[in-house]
Amino acid sequence: MNAKQLEEARRKTNPVWNSRKLKLGTFGSNMDRGCAISTIDGLLRIDWPSTRTLAQIADEMQFEALVPIARWRGFGGETNFNGPGFETYTWASGIAASTNYSGVFATSHVPTIHPMMAAKMGMTVDHISGGRFALNVVTGWHKSEFDMFGAPLMEHDARYEMAIEWLDLIKRLWVEEEEFDYDGKYYQTKKSYLEPKPIQRPFPAIMNAGGSDKGQHFAAKYCDLVYVVFGSHDFDDCKRKVDAYRDLARKEYGRDIQVWSYAYVVQGETEKQAKDYFDFYVNQKGDWDAASNLVNTMIANAKTLPSEVLAEMKKHFIAGWGGYPLIGSPEQIVDGLQTLSKIGLDGVLLNWPRYETDMRWFQKNVYPLVQQAGLR
Ligand SMILES: Cc1cc2nc3c(=O)[nH]c(=O)nc-3n(C[C@H](O)[C@H](O)[C@H](O)COP(=O)(O)O)c2cc1C
Repeated sequence: MNAKQLEEARRKTNPVWNSRKLKLGTFGSNMDRGCAISTIDGLLRIDWPSTRTLAQIADEMQFEALVPIARWRGFGGETNFNGPGFETYTWASGIAASTNYSGVFATSHVPTIHPMMAAKMGMTVDHISGGRFALNVVTGWHKSEFDMFGAPLMEHDARYEMAIEWLDLIKRLWVEEEEFDYDGKYYQTKKSYLEPKPIQRPFPAIMNAGGSDKGQHFAAKYCDLVYVVFGSHDFDDCKRKVDAYRDLARKEYGRDIQVWSYAYVVQGETEKQAKDYFDFYVNQKGDWDAASNLVNTMIANAKTLPSEVLAEMKKHFIAGWGGYPLIGSPEQIVDGLQTLSKIGLDGVLLNWPRYETDMRWFQKNVYPLVQQAGLR
């Protein structure tokens, strides 16, 4: 097979390469409470049957991406939000064996896993899934997690320098037929070798969700799926952000990338019902202490932001890990997804507060309208 045929083969097995107008996925279904920092009953409490069920519901709707969160400790407060959760490569192997269609991701903090292990585990999941594996590369920002590994949280841009070598070594293991020595700044290896090769050739899909300048250049140059997080939800602002990312990849690196984002879904028979639900789990029952801990850890300049900006940010984190809000009746949810498509996104990861109940409701009452609207 020549390079083009190999690339085509990858497109056949992994749905992240399909031609649907708006691809869909789930986010954080491997973590306790999913993406909602709330104390209400009915949120995802993490155990294997629950996380597997969510993947299977997504699989039934032919979602393209099941993206887990890599997290080693939670954020305190009343809920210790995202404290309990499943490790993502082993989660991906179990999910791969329990689904038939969806792309199955592992999310990997670069310094916590040696590239030899990452390449070997990723290849194994690719075989279990029949060529549906994708690797989400993250460089980390939660210092207390790195303390658990006795590893330093390096200076921001150096984290991406390390990620370049890490991913380079993984791709070479996935691609090269001959043994090779690697002599990098961060990794030195001798007679590196990996067999069997992954099913996806030349290698499985690669995702990165870097938001900084350095992170965006890394993603545009080396990854297939990149993510934007919308600070403002104004249509033109959002579109500019998506267009700018695509342009960066095309102009600087001659590459076509997929641009995705993520959104939380709060739905009801009517707009009022959905808004009341939002008010209940966010304003009345949100775990604001855990949300403050999360935001102060993740956003370097959080403490210098005006209080109303900070409060708005925390609200979106409580509602769904800071994603784009999709709130309303089934028709309004579909309109929101249409808007995200018009902004220029290739795909959106979704999450729901009461993950299983709400996702089943979406499958029955909203998904048929998404299809009718021609988005899928
Ligand atoms: C969709 C999405 C998923 C992410 N998943 C994780 C994750 O599981 N673990 C993590 O530590 N960071 C995660 N991040 C954070 C990013 O990898 C990245 O560190 C963050 O956006 C800040 O960008 P920067 O690293 O370029 O500064 C995620 C971000 C997004 C938008």
